[in-house]
Amino acid sequence: MSFIKLEQITKLFHDSLRPAVDSLDLTIERGEIITLLGPSGCGKTTTLRMLAGFEQPSTGRITIGDQVVFDNNKSLPPEKRGIGMVFQDYALFPHLTIEKNVMFGLNKWKPKDRKERAQEVLDLVGLGDFGDRYPSQISGGQQQRVALARALAPRPHVVLMDEPFSNLDAGLREKMRYDVTNILRKANTTAIIVTHDQKDAFAVSDRVVVMKDGIIQQVASPREMYRCPKNSFVAQFVGKTNLLTGKLEKDKNLVQTTIGTVCLPLQKNQVCETSCLSSEIEGMCETVKLSIRPEGCQIVSEGKGSYFGTVERVTYSGEYQELYVNLQSDKSSEPMVIYAPVDQDIELGSVVSFNIKSDLVCLVE
Ligand SMILES: Nc1ncnc2c1ncn2[C@@H]1O[C@H](COP(=O)(O)OP(=O)(O)O)[C@@H](O)[C@H]1O
Ligand SMILES: [Mg+2]
Repeated sequence: MSFIKLEQITKLFHDSLRPAVDSLDLTIERGEIITLLGPSGCGKTTTLRMLAGFEQPSTGRITIGDQVVFDNNKSLPPEKRGIGMVFQDYALFPHLTIEKNVMFGLNKWKPKDRKERAQEVLDLVGLGDFGDRYPSQISGGQQQRVALARALAPRPHVVLMDEPFSNLDAGLREKMRYDVTNILRKANTTAIIVTHDQKDAFAVSDRVVVMKDGIIQQVASPREMYRCPKNSFVAQFVGKTNLLTGKLEKDKNLVQTTIGTVCLPLQKNQVCETSCLSSEIEGMCETVKLSIRPEGCQIVSEGKGSYFGTVERVTYSGEYQELYVNLQSDKSSEPMVIYAPVDQDIELGSVVSFNIKSDLVCLVE
């Protein structure tokens, strides 16, 4: 049985016409790390706050463990839901030591147990020797680990984190993604993390929930989400992609597009359970939309590829070169994005020849 269950959760704020969260259904297993991912204003924070009890849903039901914490007839206050919350700005008390900050949520515990537990979670986050310091005397990354230790101290059913990485600079951000996941795994806790950053979401979670306008678009592992995005919004939100429309030739696994014929993956692609299975295409209408990842396009020597086009722009990222290639004589059409290795010399205005790996092609809604 699922550990956390959100059923048909809708939130309509009084002053708005459109719900901030719309008929959201989501189940989470014990020990899972889930991220809510989506652009600003799509309802991630509102969902988290409803789960925590800081905001009341307009309708729906929320179950945590074996307890219904919200439905038509009841709403448990936040402190009775077994939730540990890590706020975006960490919300540490500046006048309390690190140890006292962590002990704060343990006010019902015996004094000896409080001290012991505080030490235990500070050890867990790698700050066992920092108990006597004040928040101003430690770095941003350490403050975040204290906030996490404080949330974990009362052994909550679930830890909620809202944009935990957004205050950190790039280098520290990468380290904290690793540290936070490590700590959550060691503590064996269930966690829900809100982020608008795809890299954060992919790096930390077992499953990602992509939201748009209060509505869940797809729930999948990072790998499945990237390789088999359900619709064009997800395809574009998680990484770069090329979206093309075309006519499907059902029996042949081929799609006729403006750039030529594109092959769909032939057999069952193991990571995909959904839309990109060619065997499931039967019954689908003739005109289809395709997502082709830039990594799926491989440059080959001149004239050897099935497709070719003129390089309009090259962006050098250091890890790869991003080429914008125009495949048609019609200059107004969108160029395709293709990644090329950094050691390949590619001149602006030159013609490149390439093939498309069908594993990175996918039908989308
Ligand atoms: N207290 C509130 N009153 C009215 N509207 C709100 C309130 N909180 C959030 N909203 C609206 O709900 C929508 C979702 O907001 P939010 O959950 O904060 O999005 P996200 O965290 O994904 O950026 C937005 O349109 C926002 O303006
Ligand atoms: Mg938010």
